[in-house]
Amino acid sequence: MNGLIERWKSRLPVTSRTPVVTLGEGGTPLVRADRVAKAAGLPPGAVFLKLEGLNPTGSFKDRGMTLAVSKAVEAGATGVLCASTGNTSASAAAYAARAGLRCVVFLPKGKVAAGKLSQTVMHGAEIVEVDGNFDQALAMAVQAAERLGFTLVNSSNPLRIEGQKTGAFEVVETLGRAPDHHFIPVGNAGNITAYWKGYTELGHRPRMCGWQAAGAAPIVLGRPVKNPKTIATAIRIGRPVSWTAALAARDASNGSIESVTDAEILAAYRFLAREEGVFCEPSSAAPVAGLFKLAKARKAPQGLTVCVLTGHGLKDPGITARFKPRIRRVKAGGRIVL
Ligand code: F0G
Repeated sequence: MNGLIERWKSRLPVTSRTPVVTLGEGGTPLVRADRVAKAAGLPPGAVFLKLEGLNPTGSFKDRGMTLAVSKAVEAGATGVLCASTGNTSASAAAYAARAGLRCVVFLPKGKVAAGKLSQTVMHGAEIVEVDGNFDQALAMAVQAAERLGFTLVNSSNPLRIEGQKTGAFEVVETLGRAPDHHFIPVGNAGNITAYWKGYTELGHRPRMCGWQAAGAAPIVLGRPVKNPKTIATAIRIGRPVSWTAALAARDASNGSIESVTDAEILAAYRFLAREEGVFCEPSSAAPVAGLFKLAKARKAPQGLTVCVLTGHGLKDPGITARFKPRIRRVKAGGRIVL
């Protein structure tokens, strides 16, 4: 089974001696989204969605994790460790299980979506529940990794960024060009940093447009947020690790980092599911919410836009309880008029 290390090894820090730990990550679909384009007042073919929820553990984290865990094994590590809003821990737990490493995760209490938690449990990670937010959990994880001599696999680990930059390689390969605008959710700001690295390594400079949740928008506000709040728990982060790198990507690309409200995120989340047949988690809908917000202000981006949908909708089944379906009930064999 070939994953992204095999595919992009000439552009990644690996050698023939690196023991590759893979679950076949990468190679995710880039689908046209003409209904999104139409709703934003753009022509057919103007918007594409990169479906990162189709990675092995259901999020883009697998791109960075295959490399971080492979290199940890190569370096002789006995364990990996991270703090997480849920997807990093699910991915770290899966790759560590495959590599036979211990995996310790620090999770903010009550703020990890059910799907992510179940993955983390089933892959056998050792879970530390922190009575605090992600930023506080990360500070504890950094110290614990040092104490234990475990490899920290948060996106402060440069190997995570190296692996994740392959998303940009795939976009360029599939389109035969770079997009004009790259829309992406921003939490800890690792992924926007990684895509920018990938594009620039190929000589491209799309405008990098990052989207934070309004209640967790430190980069937009220009200061850390002590108590970040949003239904998009994956990006509920008040002090992003890659803050400076994200600003550099924004400025060098003439891009932007803005925010969308939870209501705007949920509207885009529903639109993607109903109109495009694409089920992503709420955080992943933030860039599409951003596109709709710009369209409303008559500032829709001209040219080609790629939105990265970072995680699968099944990650967060709890959120769907907000959307009441109309269910008609009937006895088995009874008549139902439809
Ligand atoms: N989308 C999803 C689904 C995520 O899980 C994350 C981050 C992001 C977007 C933001 O990416 O941090 O690189 O800016 N999740 C991390 C985690 C924090 O612990 O799983 P970022």
